[in-house]
Amino acid sequence: MNELMTDLSILQITDCHILPCLNETFLGINTEHYFQAVIELALTENCPFDLIIVTGDLAQNPSQGSYQRILKQIETIETPCICLPGNHDDTQLMQQIFNTPLVSCRKQILLGNWQLIFLNSQVKGVPSGRLSNQELCFLDDCLSKHPNHHALIAVHHHCLETKSAWMDAMMIENSLELWTVIGKYPNVKIITTGHIHQLMDIEHEGVRVLGTPSTCFQFKPDSPTFSLDNIASPGYRQMTLSSDGRFKTLISRLPEPLKDLQIDSLGY
Ligand SMILES: [Fe+2]
Repeated sequence: MNELMTDLSILQITDCHILPCLNETFLGINTEHYFQAVIELALTENCPFDLIIVTGDLAQNPSQGSYQRILKQIETIETPCICLPGNHDDTQLMQQIFNTPLVSCRKQILLGNWQLIFLNSQVKGVPSGRLSNQELCFLDDCLSKHPNHHALIAVHHHCLETKSAWMDAMMIENSLELWTVIGKYPNVKIITTGHIHQLMDIEHEGVRVLGTPSTCFQFKPDSPTFSLDNIASPGYRQMTLSSDGRFKTLISRLPEPLKDLQIDSLGY
């Protein structure tokens, strides 16, 4: 891994919703096909990366098979990768399978002048998120130990509203507690999330708060109720982190929207 004072290039992919069996479909689409297509696009456009982060909902109906296939796909990139759980994931199974020299569920890493912290916002059995006292203390501890590192926090659920009431009912319910911890540390630069299956890019209390498109289906922005977006296509986020704390980020998407998306489906 790049430990020098040079720019770091991070690839974020999220909400892959890989199904137990190859060729299975969900909401009308083969999520695995788009997962592979987004990775191919990222490698074509922005490789090499110093680190890949996968911010939850790796699997839909988690199984050994789905996580094993994700692992195999990621390992072909030959780049370190850190995965964190979303509401659809099986955290224990992830920790068991993503436990190789390259791919892990580790919770913190120092890279050059940056500290990256990975939080678990999953509440078993429900779609909404919450940060336990343990997670909040872990965050506080990491930030207090490394005051001279710029910090990026990755977590599955969103911590600011999206203007979609149905989605905002599933955000981090104690996000104010998260912001209280972050408020103590001016070196926190970025929070990046998955879960919302759409773009977010907001400056809040001096922190850039990012949401990243899913590698499969997208949710329609500003919709009060569940609604799929048949225009926006799957994508990824790339971030360039500079040693002085500045950063740049871009989103890139597949050129075509999803084929065969069942737009009226209520199966999420
Ligand atoms: Fe998701």
